[in-house]
Amino acid sequence: MRIFATSDIHLDKNGPEVLDELVRQARAASPDVLVLAGDVATSPTQLLEAFLALRPCAAEMVYVAGNHDVWNHPDRASLGQHAWWRLDQLLPAMCTEAGVRCLDNAPFLLGDIGFVGTLGWYDLSMRDPELDVPEGAYERGEFGGLRWMDHVYAVFPDEFGRRMSALAVAERLRARLAGQLSSCGAPRIVGVTHMVPFQEQLLRKPHPGWRFCQAFIGHAGLGELFRADPRVELTLAGHTHHGSDLQLGRLRAVCAPLGYRGEWSGQTAAEAVARTTKVIDL
Ligand SMILES: [Fe+2]
Ligand SMILES: [Fe+2]
Repeated sequence: MRIFATSDIHLDKNGPEVLDELVRQARAASPDVLVLAGDVATSPTQLLEAFLALRPCAAEMVYVAGNHDVWNHPDRASLGQHAWWRLDQLLPAMCTEAGVRCLDNAPFLLGDIGFVGTLGWYDLSMRDPELDVPEGAYERGEFGGLRWMDHVYAVFPDEFGRRMSALAVAERLRARLAGQLSSCGAPRIVGVTHMVPFQEQLLRKPHPGWRFCQAFIGHAGLGELFRADPRVELTLAGHTHHGSDLQLGRLRAVCAPLGYRGEWSGQTAAEAVARTTKVIDL
């Protein structure tokens, strides 16, 4: 089985040229499965445009949402169009319309390989313990003039309408992934998350702002689930914008984010797509 993996294509920031390049290069790779691991766009119109353009590039296409894909203005969130609504209703419906398998909604079996997945959320397990931050900084998402914008635009209410903490969202999505792994009968499994599942995939930098934001990049509990299930042979993630391809014991852990145009070191869209996408033969 040939997989073409990408994530973090951020169409709203990067422009339509990126989608044209992805289509061209994905088609050339002739994959069985195209994996899109979140952060496509905040606009539903652009999300659907991406699904419809990429879907014909492979026999199957699987998707997990990114944090930017579940953003909405707080005014709309208060009217019921919050992050749970986008994750559990809007995005699965759009995937169905485009013929894309939405792993946030259900696992997908192809031959002897099961695809399980989730957006996932950060539980602060990857925060830098050496960084001195004021009380409540992680809960507020504010530090040294920085604002982590999920705290504004990703509103996950509980059943009483109260905003859930990041830890509570992370635990709910970790539990969903655990449920998918236990219900999936496949002998081989590919795990797809938007949030980073393994500490080893993080890029550490000395800048205090960078160190602060590391807390919002991953969830080690997702990686623990993958490590505990001997059927998981490949994991695909995004979110960090730092690509990696690591062998962690029996697991191959890949992160293949395109990232923002400003992060491409002057490369063209064609070069950035070629550098960041991964073709993996299982
Ligand atoms: Fe991203
Ligand atoms: Fe992200």
